[in-house]
Amino acid sequence: MIKTLEWTDGAKPGEAAGIRFIDQRKLPVEEVYITCTTYEEVADAIRTMLVRGAPAIGVAAAMGVALGAKSLKTTDAAAFRREFEHICDVLAGTRPTAVNLFWAIRRMRDRFSAVATQQVATIQAALIEEAKAIYVEDLAANEAMGKHGATLMPSSGGVLTHCNAGALATAGGYGTALGVIRAAFESGKKINVYADETRPVLQGSRLTAWELTKDGIPTTVISDNMAGVMMAQGKIKAAVVGADRIAANGDVANKIGTYTVAVMAHAHGIPFYVAAPWSTIDLETKTGADIPIEQRDPREVTHVGQTQIAPDGIKVENPSFDVTPARYVAAIITERGIAKAPYEKTLRELSTAVVRS
Ligand code: MRU
Repeated sequence: MIKTLEWTDGAKPGEAAGIRFIDQRKLPVEEVYITCTTYEEVADAIRTMLVRGAPAIGVAAAMGVALGAKSLKTTDAAAFRREFEHICDVLAGTRPTAVNLFWAIRRMRDRFSAVATQQVATIQAALIEEAKAIYVEDLAANEAMGKHGATLMPSSGGVLTHCNAGALATAGGYGTALGVIRAAFESGKKINVYADETRPVLQGSRLTAWELTKDGIPTTVISDNMAGVMMAQGKIKAAVVGADRIAANGDVANKIGTYTVAVMAHAHGIPFYVAAPWSTIDLETKTGADIPIEQRDPREVTHVGQTQIAPDGIKVENPSFDVTPARYVAAIITERGIAKAPYEKTLRELSTAVVRS
């Protein structure tokens, strides 16, 4: 199983206590693991995309909060609370679009409030327990999503995905969109995957292709501008992607280029599915227009690795995400079940549903 991140207590020889991450910036060329031993290092890991993908960011932030709280030396309740709030604020300031980050920090704050009157050691233990619970729940949610979503996959043929919504984008294991693909494949469906390379950070060619190849799932990498012709040629039967935030009306923020895929899928009569855990659904955000979109460093566009591919000083836009209107989304697959339009109604209904596994 791919271990995207894990809490380590430093018990093994040579192992530091902290959070151990696979460095996603180095994949697929090198498989390097890095242990963050402070919450500031965790914040940096999220900012620099050493760890990325909405659910993974949420789990990393929760663990980062626990790690920061664990290192606090004060026994004064007011000082502890102040420091704890600061840690939460620093982690919440890392990336703006994936709502899982804020959801996870909210959970950590709620857990803190529930034990705030206890001894510091008890509070610290409770926060570690909460972060570990978020991790375990994420793994379980991916498996449940896989089971639900597999039923929507074609019995054979190409399935397109964009960015990386796999093990690497979650706590590990199955992933969201790739969890659906994995479950369908494991159930005997003869699926082959088209992985959009996903400019500018190349999560598709670097990460999705790496993951799926490890699992023996037939995968073809295409540059983003090839997806249309693959659809026109009948090579793609369905598209499935993850999400960074889903508004109450079903609008979906996901990696830049997702919108283009959805529009093309619509034009070719191909179902476009979104798989996301409940922590990605943001019923407090009414529509996609209200979702903050992260703007990243222009260098991601002007360079590939160390190679410059655009003139010095050229004007660049680099929105990291776009919003796909709900009308292009055939279904939203969650661990609670599958929602179809009208999403205002179906997402509300699922919000009170009992989680099935
Ligand atoms: O910038 P990234 O790599 O963090 O963006 C990731 C995506 O857009 C994923 O598709 C999304 O987070 C879903 S991951 C299960």
